[in-house]
Amino acid sequence: MSIATIHMARQSPRPQRHGKRVADEPVSPSADSLRYASDYHAPVLAREVVEGLVTNPSGVYVDGTLGGGGHAAALLDALGPDALVVGIDQDADALTTATERLFDDLQAGRFRALRGNFADMEALLADAGLDAVDGVLLDLGISSHQIDEAARGFAFSADGPLDMRMNAAAPETAADLINTLDVQALTDLLRAYGEEPRAWPIANAIVEQRPLATTGDLADAVRSAVPTREEVKTLARVFQALRIAVNDEIGVLERVLGAALRVLKPGGRLAVIAYHSLEDRPTKHFLRFGNLEGEARKDFFGNLLTPFTLLTRKPLTASAAEVAANPRARSARLRIAEKKPDRPPEPS
Ligand SMILES: C[S@@+](CC[C@H](N)C(=O)[O-])C[C@H]1O[C@@H](n2cnc3c(N)ncnc32)[C@H](O)[C@@H]1O
Repeated sequence: MSIATIHMARQSPRPQRHGKRVADEPVSPSADSLRYASDYHAPVLAREVVEGLVTNPSGVYVDGTLGGGGHAAALLDALGPDALVVGIDQDADALTTATERLFDDLQAGRFRALRGNFADMEALLADAGLDAVDGVLLDLGISSHQIDEAARGFAFSADGPLDMRMNAAAPETAADLINTLDVQALTDLLRAYGEEPRAWPIANAIVEQRPLATTGDLADAVRSAVPTREEVKTLARVFQALRIAVNDEIGVLERVLGAALRVLKPGGRLAVIAYHSLEDRPTKHFLRFGNLEGEARKDFFGNLLTPFTLLTRKPLTASAAEVAANPRARSARLRIAEKKPDRPPEPS
């Protein structure tokens, strides 16, 4: 995408400035999300994220999944001149795109971009001289740009190398897994990360037809093992499963939830957008109970021991209008929680 396009996206009418709404007419949530969309990616639930996350207009906010910078731009527009948004991404393309888009804020000291895995958030922030922050946003999964680029190997609709790494410097590609795992390990992977009911016949077809080099080779192997009417849904599940495995998406999610809790100030908020149950379940458990197992641990008096106050009893979802404008928003589930004070206030 050209710098001109990025600036066009950034310069479209801003609904908010420094925490105050300046437009007279009410702006629907979908309009807010579209306002921050670019050729790279359309953020989902942008207004809900900003309203749910921002408690301190001069605060420090971490966008752990910077992508094309849509949510970061929305946050910057809602925050004051002294605020800071720190964007983290493991994908060099995302950092380049978002940094170009948010160049003015970068120059003004309101935005910083850090390359790395969000699971290493504490170390990344410490290296940048930051410790306690007011809010953390995680918009999980991959961006539209990553899917659209055939060379990244995420899409079954375009032929490309079997790569699927969000971080191009990571050692293991999808081809490495596909061409080395035995049938049982492939079956387990497809079941665990794709909830794929035909995992065993698909794994067999893959092993019989390998070596596989491209997404087209993998799609052909999958098609040979399932009825035609099931092809598209099955391909989506298989590609999702491999992507999750290549990027260890569940492992890093579990790590970042704990890291986010540690870097948040008391009163700071964590907002997580998940797109499937494998990532929504641990998120729900962690925000409700403070542990990944979803165990309700209680003190001697029966009070729930949890570091968070849950602000979304049910997850927030996109409106019909937002889904119509951006079908990717259909599966988005936004959960938000606030970190409790370290110890209850002294009675006065
Ligand atoms: C859904 S997109 C985020 C889009 C962004 N909210 C926006 O408005 O443009 C997810 C982004 O997070 C990045 N990402 C996913 N998992 C990550 C991880 N473990 N560490 C760092 N970045 C990650 C991906 O590379 C991708 O750019």
